[in-house]
Formats: sequence, C-alpha cells, structure tokens
Amino acid sequence: MKGLFITFEGLDGTGKSTQLRRAVQYLRKCGHRVRVTREPGGTRTGEQVREILLASKTGKLAPLAELALMYAARAQLLEQVIRPALTRGEVVVSDRYNTASFAYQGYGRELGVATVRAFDRVVCGPTQPDLTIILDLDPERARVRARGDAVRRSRLDRIEAQGLAFHKRVRAGYLALARRAPERIKVVRADQSIGEMQRQIRALIDRLVSRHKE
Ligand code: TYD
Repeated sequence: MKGLFITFEGLDGTGKSTQLRRAVQYLRKCGHRVRVTREPGGTRTGEQVREILLASKTGKLAPLAELALMYAARAQLLEQVIRPALTRGEVVVSDRYNTASFAYQGYGRELGVATVRAFDRVVCGPTQPDLTIILDLDPERARVRARGDAVRRSRLDRIEAQGLAFHKRVRAGYLALARRAPERIKVVRADQSIGEMQRQIRALIDRLVSRHKE
C-alpha cells in the first residue's frame, strides 16, 4: 500500500516544530513507520540550497530565483527521500512542503499562484500531501515568538527578517489556500494551548489514517 504524506505549515513562531515532533511520536506509537523531513533541505544538496536561501549574506534574491531554488531543493528531496519512502508504504511527515511556496513566494513575494503552480506541476506532479496542517497565528504574535527563538539561535534568517506586511500576506495566503482545498488543508489555531493543538492534530491524523485503510 502506498504510504501517507503529511505536511506541517505555518509562520515561524507558531509552534510548528513542537507539534510536528508530537505528531511523529504519536504515529510511531500507533505502529507506523515514519520518515521525517524538512524543507528547504532534507538532503545534502538541499541543505546547501537552504544555506543560500536563508543566509542573510545572500541578500536580495529575485523572487523567481527564490522560488526556483525552493523547487530545486524539493526535486532532490522528492527523488531521494519522499517518493522512495511513500513507495515503501511509510508515513512521510515534512516540516513544510509545497504549500509554503504558494504562501511565501506566491502570496508573500507576490509571484501569484499560477506561477508557483507551473513549477509545482513539473516538480511535484502527483506527489501531493494527503494532509496539510497549517498552524495559524496572528503574524505579530508569531513574530514575537519567532524572534525569541531566533535570539536563542542568535540569528534571524533571511526570510524571517522580512517585514510584517510580508508575513501578513503569507498568512492570508495560507488561509486562502486552505479555503480552496478544505479536504486536504486543515487550519489549527496556534493561539491555543500546546495540548489542545496536539489533540486537534491527532484527530486529523486519525481521520486520515482510517480513511486510508478503507
Ligand atoms: P523553517 O525551516 O521553518 O525555518 P526555521 O528553521 O527557522 O524553523 O523555514 C525556513 C524558511 O523558509 C521559512 O521562513 C519559510 C521559508 N520557505 C519559503 O519561503 N518557501 C518554501 O517553499 C519553503 C519550504 C520555506
């Protein structure tokens, strides 16, 4: 049986990594073989591309160059990691995937959905997530939380360093994408407790897994 593909999305500072970790623990406890990955990155080449994308010394990148690099890293990840794992019947859980390109480059950088879709058709094709969980939070609050993390890591990456207007477009983009594909893309409010978010995410995963078994 083909595996399942679950992706986590949202602005930095929404608690995405914590929830992803908990979801992975849960899936493993339920007996699934889980392959965890992240974007941009997840392969040796992809991590090098990530460095270009996120290092502040890269400076200004043409939006289309940024989009193309995201999809370059994704193409590598699909071939090396995602497609083989799905073929083996594993559950792939990714910290971001193509919905991030629609939200950040399509809406944030204002390239538009059609341009991102053109890349997506070629690179991802039919390998689309079965479930995408967007953790949604007001960008100002997300920013405060992300800054806290960044101070601990003593750096803000090139994309996190964008202004509030950019992050507002990204958030609106995520919500618009969820409205367009309500069956696949689910929004979980990130202004709730960690435990409550975890409960809602488990319910979404349970539903997906039981549908997959039918
Ligand atoms: P992330 O790994 O979540 O950052 P961190 O390690 O700080 O938690 O994501 C890195 C950044 O890349 C994030 O700001 C979102 C951005 N991004 C895009 O702009 N487009 C994309 O397609 C992807 C996958 C990420």
